[in-house]
Amino acid sequence: MDLQGKSIVITGGARGLGGAMATRLAATGAKLALVDLDDGALESMAAQCLENGAAEARTYKVNVAREDEVVTLFDNVAGDFGALDGLVNNAGITRDAMLLKYKDGEQVAKMSLEQWQAVIDVNLTGVFLCGREAAAKMIELGSKGCIINISSISRAGNMGQTNYSAAKAGVQAMAVVWAKELARYGIRAAAIAPGFIGTEMVMSMKPEAREKIESMIPARRVGDPDEIARTVQFILENDYFSGRCIDVDGALRL
Ligand SMILES: NC(=O)c1ccc[n+]([C@@H]2O[C@H](COP(=O)([O-])OP(=O)(O)OC[C@H]3O[C@@H](n4cnc5c(N)ncnc54)[C@H](O)[C@@H]3O)[C@@H](O)[C@H]2O)c1
Repeated sequence: MDLQGKSIVITGGARGLGGAMATRLAATGAKLALVDLDDGALESMAAQCLENGAAEARTYKVNVAREDEVVTLFDNVAGDFGALDGLVNNAGITRDAMLLKYKDGEQVAKMSLEQWQAVIDVNLTGVFLCGREAAAKMIELGSKGCIINISSISRAGNMGQTNYSAAKAGVQAMAVVWAKELARYGIRAAAIAPGFIGTEMVMSMKPEAREKIESMIPARRVGDPDEIARTVQFILENDYFSGRCIDVDGALRL
């Protein structure tokens, strides 16, 4: 896919990895639909994208976990752009906790249903809803589009992340299912599993905490957000890439 003039939706596109993807895809001359809950951050990211060469940059304040909002989102994107060529399912949250915690034989904590549900709602159901609605619009518009789900190395099972690991394994599996089901319409689907990436959250950690993380990574550094954005661009542009997950983790794989 030549990205110039193509319409690409990025969820969680206001900052972090989604912001890096938006900035990189803008430079290809793509038309961007940035989706997030934070409308202030969305506006400044859209302005930055236009400066970077985006053919268009529109913003949509949407909660990806809400079916009604997601259905309306893709109706609006199709109306505003008249096309839909790509979706990056990037919006995500964490609510980390151990499944159970015991002290002196007594249970002192457990992952709450709220912690479980919040992550499943955004990271799994949100991806399902956006993927389903994007695929429907692509079929309706006759677009040979591409859907990318942002998974994580945590999909292999990371301590303290029952909820997040389950969701990230789920979105990787969904990419495989969609690649198989949607190939007949010319639509591709794939996933990316980042390791530790130097978004604001990681970079603002105390130096000792960051050094500890970096010492566990064979590459001895966290990834740069643009290294994930470049992987998004590669998948969008490579028409034979479908149904697979790319780990971008400096060899950390859990
Ligand atoms: N940063 C990393 O090291 C890392 C590693 C592996 C995977 N990931 C994944 O990459 C994605 C982006 O992570 P990030 O580090 O950039 O996070 P971030 O918190 O910087 O950005 C996430 C964005 O998603 C938005 N968002 C959250 N809930 C939403 C909802 N319900 N509807 C719409 N938007 C919502 C937030 O407002 C925010 O702008 C996530 O899916 C995360 O799980 C990140």
